[in-house]
Amino acid sequence: MKRNLTLFVFSAAFSVILGSVLISGCTKEGPEGPPGMDGADATETCMTCHNFSEDLVAKIGQYYNSAHASGNNINRNNPNCSHCHTSQGFRTFLETGESVAVPEPTAINCRTCHPIHETYTFDDYRVRTDHPVSMILAEGTYDHGNSNLCANCHQARPVSPFPVPGETGELTITNARFGPHYGPQANIFIGKGGYEIAGSMPYQNSVHTNIISDGCITCHMAPPVGYDAGGHQMSIKYGTSSYNYSGCSGCHTDAAELTAMMNNNREEIYDLTIELRDLLIDHGLLNEGNLLVPTPIDVTHDQAGAILNYKFVYGDKSHGAHNYKYVKALLINSIESLQ
Ligand code: HEC
Ligand code: HEC
Ligand code: HEC
Ligand code: HEC
Ligand code: HEC
Ligand code: HEC
Repeated sequence: MKRNLTLFVFSAAFSVILGSVLISGCTKEGPEGPPGMDGADATETCMTCHNFSEDLVAKIGQYYNSAHASGNNINRNNPNCSHCHTSQGFRTFLETGESVAVPEPTAINCRTCHPIHETYTFDDYRVRTDHPVSMILAEGTYDHGNSNLCANCHQARPVSPFPVPGETGELTITNARFGPHYGPQANIFIGKGGYEIAGSMPYQNSVHTNIISDGCITCHMAPPVGYDAGGHQMSIKYGTSSYNYSGCSGCHTDAAELTAMMNNNREEIYDLTIELRDLLIDHGLLNEGNLLVPTPIDVTHDQAGAILNYKFVYGDKSHGAHNYKYVKALLINSIESLQ
């Protein structure tokens, strides 16, 4: 119902604007159309996208069923948050490098990622940025084609105090939410930013890191399942336990084998994550229940690193798909250090 109304308002607004563009093209007095365009051009230009095909409709349908479009958390509209949680905040950040509160924040939408209505050509569907992204936390650069766009937001935030492997002495944690924040997928994918505690497992990257050249979008924007997953909806998991593996099939040709492998990995990584969480609780480093750090607390670098690693893997949400080898090493070596 809400969708129908939006479409109605959309087409009404479109008719009015297109009408005025046409009028301005035919007469000298009418309102101004987009720069450099006369009436005949305007129809053609607008029709590049607003035409009778279903292309735009499909993307809009998928998109408005996504977490991005939900507008959850756009109230996190203050400096340090707005550039990842609001559309205008992100655009301002790309232009100026600053994170600022924005008036009338909007949810992430087509304009956040594409410069819609800037040239009025198909070129407006390019991504706003494909520059490689230097990770905010620790070293490392994420450079995987158009998915560099995603890495701007889906990366760890600064962590304070910042533990360093091999350092002795203690750190004082005062922030109960100590950790990399939700969504450190870009760091995990390139295998940078975890606390590389010494242990029995070597820190290596999964083959995915090197061979999936377009990163996130190869798997997350693969051919969609209706409006539930893939395409511009962007999720892999949908419903209670269904997965869109259409982006994997170019490399993993046996679907049954892939599903079995993912199910095993999911269970293994999940169990290790729970084991680490319970050890952190036993050592008094996380509260049982709310999983906050009982602050203020003095900890060793390795203890802070173990908390960090737990939160990294928990926030990544891919159960190993983003970088199985790296995540497994972070978990097992952290568990060993606490035992
Ligand atoms: C590159 C493709 C493209 C071209 C060319 C284009 N549009 Fe759009 N237009 C879009 C997209 C994408 C949206 C946003 C849809 C959404 O947010 O759900 C949109 C939205 C609109 C809206 C709805 C109000 C709004 O701003 O969201 C109007 C009205 C509109 N366009 C008019 C025009 C007119 C008039 C032209 C030609 C002068 C034009 N468009 C050319 C892609 C295009
Ligand atoms: C570098 C980008 C970035 C910054 C800065 C950022 N966030 Fe987020 N935040 C994200 C991403 C990405 C997600 C979604 C992660 C996911 O679902 O995997 C998220 C999720 C959240 C959630 C939802 C968690 C959940 O489990 O549903 C909250 C709440 C939140 N952020 C609050 C904040 C606040 C408050 C700030 C500022 C102090 C902030 N964020 C700054 C990127 C950021
Ligand atoms: C979170 C970022 C994001 C948002 C929001 C987003 N897109 Fe996209 N879109 C992308 C990326 C990334 C690609 C390129 C995918 C690729 O390279 O395969 C893309 C590709 C496209 C393409 C194909 C362009 C081509 O060259 O074939 C169209 C059309 C498109 N988007 C329309 C939309 C519309 C309409 C909306 C709003 C309903 C929207 N997008 C919202 C990220 C986004
Ligand atoms: C402007 C920052 C930003 C950009 C750019 C961005 N995202 Fe997000 N993404 C978020 C935030 C914030 C959330 C969480 C929305 C919420 O619930 O508050 C999110 C949620 C998601 C989710 C759903 C997570 C869940 O728990 O269900 C997926 C999947 C996702 N993003 C993938 C991508 C991909 C792939 C790209 C690049 C094409 C991308 N994102 C680009 C900020 C961003
Ligand atoms: C190898 C393919 C692959 C690549 C590349 C990839 N992901 Fe994922 N991602 C997955 C799979 C598979 C899951 C779901 C695992 C599960 O739920 O068990 C997932 C889960 C997620 C989730 C949790 C929500 C969801 O859709 O289930 C987010 C958010 C996410 N990925 C973002 C990203 C971002 C951002 C990038 C790029 C930095 C990225 N992913 C790269 C495969 C991939
Ligand atoms: C560009 C090719 C490519 C794509 C796309 C791809 N994979 Fe892979 N994947 C590989 C290769 C190569 C390996 C290594 C196989 C081996 O070690 O025997 C691998 C390994 C894996 C593993 C084993 C654990 C690991 O990471 O080492 C899992 C699980 C997996 N892939 C799941 C997926 C899923 C799920 C998707 C889609 C969402 C996907 N892959 C997309 C090529 C790909």
